[in-house]
Amino acid sequence: MTSGNRSPIGIIDSGMGGITIWTEIVRTMPQEEVVYWADSANCPYGGKSRQEIESLVAAGVERLVREGVKIIVIACNTATTAAIGNLRERWPGLPFVGLEPAVKPAALSTKSGVIGVLGTAYTVNSDMFRRTAEKYASGVRIIATAGNGLVEQVEKGLEDAPETETLLRAYIEPMLAEGADKLVLACTHYPLLTAAIRRIIGSREMEIINPAPAIARHTLELLRERNLLTDSTELGVHRFIGSGDQEDIERLKARAQQYKNSYNETGNGK
Ligand code: DGL
Repeated sequence: MTSGNRSPIGIIDSGMGGITIWTEIVRTMPQEEVVYWADSANCPYGGKSRQEIESLVAAGVERLVREGVKIIVIACNTATTAAIGNLRERWPGLPFVGLEPAVKPAALSTKSGVIGVLGTAYTVNSDMFRRTAEKYASGVRIIATAGNGLVEQVEKGLEDAPETETLLRAYIEPMLAEGADKLVLACTHYPLLTAAIRRIIGSREMEIINPAPAIARHTLELLRERNLLTDSTELGVHRFIGSGDQEDIERLKARAQQYKNSYNETGNGK
């Protein structure tokens, strides 16, 4: 029996970060329709309280539910950390995919026994992160750093600005100095900084871990398991909506397209 489900996939982030996940979802499931919610009016989430983040994310989810989505990808580590439990309770029939720092693959593959994790202050200081680290990285040293200011730079389109590089250098150099050979990007905005991060790493040995391919695969598996994959053979339509103004939406669309093109060319976004 085939029962294709042509309802859209919902993706949610505080702003532009989710486009790093969207890009892999489009590559993995080109026929799926997608609606992307960006909470640009309230970005960044990283310095807010759990209650604030929970209610902002719930408002975005409500909006995506009104769009008729069949699954929601919480394409934001901070929102997942603060709100995923509450969302699953409130919408028990709706599948959610969340983002947790990719500590496990980093811990399994490190040769030096030291890994760096860069996330928002909310994520790296959370109990969820502490539990993930204990569960998957015992015996490995984790240097977890809050990337304060980076989300703001990405939202302003300043990925290659000297101030952005200065911030990144302050966060990543100490990890390199301690021998970290893996850098887990635990905020979906950070893969947009890949080019700047590569400039800092230079010829030193440090693998950048972007969770997007694993998240897209997991979303595909979940849709397949629940018989929710589309049966359309056309390329899916993608819509971008959010709490910001029209200018924010236009910038988001342009950045998404640009990131996807550069990612497809190089296997890495820029
Ligand atoms: N993309 C979000 C994340 O993955 C950024 C959070 C923020 O808005 O501070 O954590």
